[in-house]
Parts: sequence; C-alpha cells; structure tokens
Amino acid sequence: MSDFSINTKLVHAGERRKAPEGVPVATPIYAAATYTYDSMEQMERVFAGDGGDYVYTRYGNPTVDALQEALTTIEDGKVSVAYASGMAAIHAALFACELSPGSIILASQDLYGASFDLLYKIFGSLGVKTRTADFNDPEALEKQIGELKPRVLLAETISNPLLKVCDIERVAEIAHANGARLIVDNTFASPYLCQPLSLGADFSVHSATKYLSGHADAIGGIVVSNDEADYLALVSVMKLVGGVLSVWEAHQILRGIKTLGLRLDRQCANAQILAEALAGNERIEKVYYPKLSGEKELIKRVLREDFGGALVSIKLKNDTKESAWRFMDNLKLCVRATSLGDVYTLVSHSASSSHRELSPKKRADLGITDSLVRISVGTEDIKDIIADIEQALLKS
Ligand SMILES: Cc1ncc(COP(=O)(O)O)c(C=O)c1O
Repeated sequence: MSDFSINTKLVHAGERRKAPEGVPVATPIYAAATYTYDSMEQMERVFAGDGGDYVYTRYGNPTVDALQEALTTIEDGKVSVAYASGMAAIHAALFACELSPGSIILASQDLYGASFDLLYKIFGSLGVKTRTADFNDPEALEKQIGELKPRVLLAETISNPLLKVCDIERVAEIAHANGARLIVDNTFASPYLCQPLSLGADFSVHSATKYLSGHADAIGGIVVSNDEADYLALVSVMKLVGGVLSVWEAHQILRGIKTLGLRLDRQCANAQILAEALAGNERIEKVYYPKLSGEKELIKRVLREDFGGALVSIKLKNDTKESAWRFMDNLKLCVRATSLGDVYTLVSHSASSSHRELSPKKRADLGITDSLVRISVGTEDIKDIIADIEQALLKS
C-alpha cells in the first residue's frame, strides 16, 4: 500500500484482511455486498457452485445463513430461506408450491389482512384463485377441499385477533389426503410454542419482525420447509425477486432468538395472569385467550405444554369503536401500536388496523366487533400491566 497515493490508500487500506483463525463466538455482521478471490480460476469455481462460498449478498450472506441455519435447527426442518419481511416470506412459500393460472389456494378465513391482499391482488392477478374456509371446522374443511382440489392451504397457528388455535395435525392430514401442501404462518406462536413441521405442515413461515426479533427494531421473514427439494424455488425468489434480508436485520433477529424462550416464558405467564384478571372485569364482555377457551386438548397438542401464547384479546361491554379508542387513549404504559411479539406490551384496535380493509359486515361475520382490542403482552411486571389496563378500562 505504501507506494500508492493518499486517495488510493483511503479506498483500500485495511481491507480484505484474512479471516481470523479463531471462530467468533457470535456471528459477525458481514456487511459485504460482494466477494473477491485469489484468482479467476478460483472465482470461476465459486461461480459454478463448486466452491461452496459467497459471491454476492443477494445470492447469500454468512450472517443471513447463520439465521437460516438457526431456524432450520429450531423448527426441525430441512431448509430455511430468509427474506426482507414476513410478507416476502409468505410470497416465497406460496411460489414454492408451483402455482399456475387456475390453481386454487384455500386460505383460513382468519388470516392476517395483508396475507389476503397478497393472495387476491398479487396471486389473483396471475390467475391464481383464493377461496376461504373455517379451518376450525375440520369436517367442513374436508368437504371443501374435496370439492375445490386446492394446490395449497394457508393457515395460521394462532389466528388474529380471536386467537383460535389451528389443529395443524388434522389440517395437514386433510391437505395431504387431497394432494395439497400446507403452509402454516407460525408468527403468533413462534417456534418456542409450536413447530408446525413436526405436526405435518410442509412449510412454517414467520414474520421475524415479531417474536423472533422481539424488540420492535427489525423487519424480516423466514420460510422453513421440511423438503430439501423446496430450496431451489425458495432461493430463486430470494435471488430474482430480490427481497433479501439485510445483514443488519439478520444479526438483530439472530440475537433476538437467543432470548426467545426467556421472553416467552415471561410473556406467556403474564398473558395468562392478565387474561384471568380481565375475565372478571365489569367493563369487559369477553376475554379471548386460548387457555380460557374450551379447546384444552387441542391447545395442549399444538402449543408447548402449559402455554397459551402471549396474546390476549378483549371485547368491551360497550361494544363501540369510541369506547375502545377511549380505553386505548387512556393507557399510560401499554403502547398503542399495530405490531406484536415485542418486550413492550402493545395494544391494537383490530377494526382500525389489521382488519380496517374489511367491510363492517365481513368483520361482524368473523366476530371482530367494533370494541375488539388485541393485547400483545410484554415482559414488564404484570402488576404494572394490569394496573394500567384496569385504570384505562374505567375510562372506556
Ligand atoms: C400473522 C402475520 N403474518 C405475517 C405478517 C407480515 O409480516 P411483516 O410485517 O414482517 O411483513 C404479519 C404482520 O403483522 C402477521 O401478523
């Protein structure tokens, strides 16, 4: 370097040092867009896929690979591919199901709103049809599948905002008996509470923005498949559609995963105490919490034993939007926000956020009434959460 001028040194000095011999305990952030090699011959081997090494970050990156490997291990899958968001991950999983014009997707009627938009607006424009079903009614579902012959079923482990738990084993059985694949959006449960692949699903998809990351500071998504043959399609979407996960977010999510169990132990315990406390509140008509529902055997089979998730929804006695908004406006600790799964307790009004695009009639049909509020319970002291919610309810 010493022979070069200052402007050249500014650009190249300190770069391309050999990797240290010691292995870093935690995966570093490889903020490199591209890679160089000692010779063109070596580069050619890597480009041809013989070198097993990195070329360009849209095609693969060591930090993102560490996250993918972590999810494959945690979900007991065969392959994982990460994307820029949960929506990009759902899109990729659907793409991997080889849909073509005329193919049918059978979706749970309780899906996340943007997932419906993806199905109707993006896949619909390609001639792929979406039909919906009540996935909590297996007999009706079986009949509908027999009639429609869908290529793929799309379900959520725990639905939003009524927190219905899907019988993944049963739905997978019905799907496979009819030649369909099953994609489960496992965002609301996280791999700590549920591992859809072990229950028979073909794909488990996450918005890593939620519990995996857990701190409201990263956006990402990941697909885990139980079939290595899906890797090519999942990676093609990453390379060619290009919604790659940023290395910075991959690092944040990887760090978040380390405390997923610790966080969820606390969050689920908090949620259960909160649900039980609110069940007797005179301002509340109904508390939605899986462990308070009549489906105890199902919940035990699908979710980690003794866990009921970390989300609680409430319907107010005064079942109006105004009442829900007064309740939310009077919260002092819990945060009004549309996301979930963070260490902070987050509160969202379904009719004006996740389900605002639906007509009031459609919302009413789904049981999402005007006062329905979803609480994503955080890791704070439960006494403080309850006190905040109870004082705000008095003003609802
Ligand atoms: C169940 C579920 N799936 C997928 C998504 C989409 O995730 P992202 O916002 O990371 O794209 C969300 C977002 O709220 C969600 O709640």
